[in-house]
Amino acid sequence: MQMYKIAVIPGDGTGPEVTVEAVKVLKTAADKFNFKVELTEFDFGGERYMRTGETLPDSAVEELRKFDSILLGAIGHPDVAPGILEKGILLKARFELDQYINLRPVKLYPGVDCPLKDKGPEEIDYVVVRENTGGIYTGTGGISMKGTPNEVAVQSAVYNRFQVDRCLKYAFEYAQKHGKKARGKGDENTLALCGKTNVLTYLYDLWERAFNEMGEKDYPDIRRDYYHVDATCMWMVKNPEWFDVIVTGNMFGDIITDLGAITQGGMGIAAGGNINPEGVSMFEPIGGSAPKYTGQGVINPLAAICSVQMMLETLGEDSAGAKIEDVVKFITANKLKGLGAGQMGYSTNEVGDMVAKIIAD
Ligand code: IPM
Ligand code: MN
Repeated sequence: MQMYKIAVIPGDGTGPEVTVEAVKVLKTAADKFNFKVELTEFDFGGERYMRTGETLPDSAVEELRKFDSILLGAIGHPDVAPGILEKGILLKARFELDQYINLRPVKLYPGVDCPLKDKGPEEIDYVVVRENTGGIYTGTGGISMKGTPNEVAVQSAVYNRFQVDRCLKYAFEYAQKHGKKARGKGDENTLALCGKTNVLTYLYDLWERAFNEMGEKDYPDIRRDYYHVDATCMWMVKNPEWFDVIVTGNMFGDIITDLGAITQGGMGIAAGGNINPEGVSMFEPIGGSAPKYTGQGVINPLAAICSVQMMLETLGEDSAGAKIEDVVKFITANKLKGLGAGQMGYSTNEVGDMVAKIIAD
């Protein structure tokens, strides 16, 4: 029987509450679909940092490499200055484990309230492939003459061709396998590059040339679109049905996926995968630690549960992943009043139980 070693990092705030439900669903899916999971929990997060001064030590990174996958709850603590935990844990894991893809589906499930007029599950059904190890996130830059009136701050968006090419390759392959044509939802698979070639004339010139070269040479059947990032935001609201697979740099990907998340019902449902196609990947609800809701049992665990779905699909457990998605759809369509914290009509734990029970039956 296939066995997967999974590292679990519940993290901060509501992270642990949603992780409990995600793990519940993971274990149930394993029983039902005949694979085994061996879970190892790690306590990285704000509490540990305040106790020990440690974020994610190098030795932990080495340990994490030995797992088949990582499940992350949330990182971010109100008593720790912004940036310390985010950089020290989340970004460090992404960078050190070379999880160069951040895969973020934007999918509106049935029964979910959508803030966009006249848009439903048919229209909101695409995926963002966000580059996850480069760009502004590399921390290249600095401050000089700090504290003086002449102080200068520089933060550079850095990409090399290798990083851009490997991200584009993943995106083209993804479009080929999971694009609208591949899913029987349209007559072509489309990859759209989201950039800003009119202003970032070095950075997105590199991306656009690489995009067109690779597309022309290796993926001639995939339709290529290009949108500036500002226009992308506009069309994500006005005509989300235009999108199939979007590929973009790290910072634009960060920004447009929050917009995408709100169009699919918010942070209660939005999941993402930090993927190293050749190594260990890490799956997380993208919503953050929501400290004000901690311990109340009101936060929606579906985003964490959907991140388990993505984990299983990445591990090759496709039927288990598909089952979780079906059950989530059933629950949004028939059970939950809303997806927001305190608006589900059920507690965090009841939603997790409900998903697990339907999978087990
Ligand atoms: C995300 C988050 C992170 C990011 C933060 C917490 C560093 O916003 O996963 O989208 O910017 O990538
Ligand atoms: Mn973000």
